[in-house]
Amino acid sequence: MRRSRIVSTGSYVPEKVLTNVDLEKMVDTSDEWIIERTGIKERRIADEGQAASDLAYEASKGALKDAHLKPEDLDLIIVSTVTGDMPFPSTACILQDKLGAKKATAFDINAACSGFLYGLYVADSFIKSGIHKRILIVGTEVLSRITDWDDRTTCILFGDGAGASIIEPSEEERGIISMHIYSDGSMWDLLNMPGGGSRNPASKNSIEKGLHFIKMKGNETFKVAVRKLEDLAVKILEENKLEPSQISLLIPHQANLRIIQAIVERLGIPMDKVCINIDRYGNTSAASIPIALDEAVRTGKVKEGDYILLEAFGGGLTWASALIKW
Ligand code: UT7
Repeated sequence: MRRSRIVSTGSYVPEKVLTNVDLEKMVDTSDEWIIERTGIKERRIADEGQAASDLAYEASKGALKDAHLKPEDLDLIIVSTVTGDMPFPSTACILQDKLGAKKATAFDINAACSGFLYGLYVADSFIKSGIHKRILIVGTEVLSRITDWDDRTTCILFGDGAGASIIEPSEEERGIISMHIYSDGSMWDLLNMPGGGSRNPASKNSIEKGLHFIKMKGNETFKVAVRKLEDLAVKILEENKLEPSQISLLIPHQANLRIIQAIVERLGIPMDKVCINIDRYGNTSAASIPIALDEAVRTGKVKEGDYILLEAFGGGLTWASALIKW
């Protein structure tokens, strides 16, 4: 076995659309400000009855169908999420049950918006070591449940969705070429949800203080994200002796269009080689990259032999990349 390879993808977004104009009626903001500062026009919001595992289930069904596989064919399920169905058990175990993937082991990964690439890193290592043979990785988020709808600095940013990929060993030259994951816990306070854990357990007091909502120092996070993602992209290309022009598709985490534009400018690649869905879905955290990848596959944007570069950045702080020969 030479490499691990993504053999199929799937994604799901809830039907309900919340536009910037809708948000204008909820907080002091404007469609113009949101588009100019973030690139977001609308986002999807899960139904009351939908939890992270429900979105994950829909995305996973798509990936299984695409690969002509049955749930019993999976031997590992990794779910990346910060909005799991409940603190425990893992959302991966709940998804395993929903799918009927009786032969799979299942666990969650929490790396915020970098979660899908952290999951891919673990899956790639397990496949290369021979421990697992067929792994489902899902990024799924219902961020609308931890969004403070009175806070205009965050509520305009987030959306709900899920994306899934199945990874297998490959004897071919194509597959995952190189992966990197990084963390810097010294900046954990830039982006977090302080309530509901052992530090600030859920209580009347924690709810009154709004600790069960996302808190973000947006401007500081933005600056670190741009620097880390630009530097990482340059490093990956150098390490793999690739010119930017050899990258057919860049699939960045969709946190802010201006962050994506900064990476693109630094690399000198045209915007038509970049997958963008932030305008339609906002920031869906761990789900943004697998949703964008699935859209790229289904619309024929990615072809066999193409080099594609995936990059993520999120709370932790965490950041990560994957270089893939499709
Ligand atoms: O996914 C994980 C990683 N996440 C990120 O990387 C997100 C990074 N951060 C961002 O994307 C941006 O920082 C934001 C989009 C969150 C904010 O954009 P910004 O250009 O950094 O704005 P700012 O926070 O510096 O605020 C500028 C002004 C402020 O007003 P004053 O103090 O200049 O009068 C804000 O109060 O914009 C104001 N503002 C708004 N105005 C209208 C903040 N939010 C809004 C809003 N509508 N929704």
